[in-house]
Amino acid sequence: MKILLFGSSGQVGWELQRSLAVLGELVALGRDPAHNPEQLCGDLANLTGLAETVRRVAPDVIVNAAAHTAVDKAEAEPELTRTLNALAPAVLASEAAKLGAWLVHYSTDYVFDGRGEQPWRELDATGPLSVYGQTKLEGEQLAAAANPRHLIFRTSWVYGARGGNFAKTMLRLAGERETLSVIDDQFGAPTSAELLADVTAHALVAAMNKPELAGLYHCVAAGETSWHGYARFVLAQAQALGWILKAGPAQVAPTTTANYPTPAQRPLNSRLDTTRLQNAFGLVLPPWQVQVARMLQEITGRNQE
Ligand SMILES: NC(=O)c1ccc[n+]([C@@H]2O[C@H](COP(=O)([O-])OP(=O)(O)OC[C@H]3O[C@@H](n4cnc5c(N)ncnc54)[C@H](OP(=O)(O)O)[C@@H]3O)[C@@H](O)[C@H]2O)c1
Repeated sequence: MKILLFGSSGQVGWELQRSLAVLGELVALGRDPAHNPEQLCGDLANLTGLAETVRRVAPDVIVNAAAHTAVDKAEAEPELTRTLNALAPAVLASEAAKLGAWLVHYSTDYVFDGRGEQPWRELDATGPLSVYGQTKLEGEQLAAAANPRHLIFRTSWVYGARGGNFAKTMLRLAGERETLSVIDDQFGAPTSAELLADVTAHALVAAMNKPELAGLYHCVAAGETSWHGYARFVLAQAQALGWILKAGPAQVAPTTTANYPTPAQRPLNSRLDTTRLQNAFGLVLPPWQVQVARMLQEITGRNQE
C-alpha cells in the first residue's frame, strides 16, 4: 500500500508519519517542494501542482493533515483560506477518486455555531462563525462529494508535544506572572495529535477492509473542560512534576470570551459526540487528562535533559 501524506510538519502530520509508517510505503510531503522527495509539490495553494503530485505518486491513500489553521489570520485572508481549506481537499478527493484511492481529511468543531451544551453529533446542523470554520465545512463537503471513499475526522483543541501549544503557553506565563486569566465559557476536549494519528491508522485499515465504514466522524478525547479548567490541570500536573511556577492552579482566574475579543469568533460549545466513531471502529477514546498528563511528562523530561 502507498500512502501520500500532506502537511507532514504539522502537529497531526508529524504524528501521522509515525502511525502510518507501519501500513505501507509513506510519501510524506511538506509545503516546500525543495524538502520533499523528488521535489513533489505539497503546497495546498498550488491546486495544479497538487493534482500532478497525486498523479505522479499514484497512492492508494491520500491523507491531508495540512490546512490554514491560523484562525484569526484567516479572517483577513478569506480567499487563501478557502483555497487551502476547501478547494485543495476537493482536488485531492477528486484525484483520489480517479485512482480508486481513499482520502483521509480533518475538520473541526468550528463548523458549529457553539449554541447549547449538548455534544454535537455528525449530522447536527452546522453554522460556522468564522472564515476558518466556513472554509473547513466547505472542504469536508466538497471532499465527501468528490470521493465516496473518504474518512473525515472532525476534532477540537489539538495539541502535540512538538511545537507550541496551549499547555506550553500556560507554563511559560505561569513561570513569569503571579496570576493568569483564562476563558472559562468555551467548552471542549483537548485532543492529542498522537490520538488522532493512532485512530486514523486504525480506522483506515478497518475502512479499507469494509468500505461501508467511509464517512464523517467526530474524533476527540473523552470528557470535557473549559480553557480555564485545562490551564488549571496543566499547572497542577506541572507542579507535581517539580516545575517551579509563580502562578499555580489557584492563581488562574476565570474570564469570559466577551472579555477576550479576537478577530475570529469561537464557538462556546465545542463538545463533540464520538459515539459514531467508537461504535464503527470498536475504539475507546481515553479521557483528555490522560494524554495531556503524558505530554507534560514528555516535555518535563526534555527540559531536564
Ligand atoms: N489545531 C487545532 O486545534 C485543530 C482543531 C480542530 C481541527 N484541526 C484540523 O486538524 C488538522 C491538522 O491540524 P494541526 O493542528 O496539525 O495543524 P498545524 O499544526 O497548524 O499544521 C498545519 C500544517 O498545514 C501546513 N500548511 C499550511 N499552509 C500550507 C500550504 N499552503 N501548503 C501545504 N501545507 C500547508 C503547515 O505547514 P507549515 O509548517 O509549512 O506552515 C502545517 O504543517 C487540520 O485540518 C486542522 O484544520 C485542528
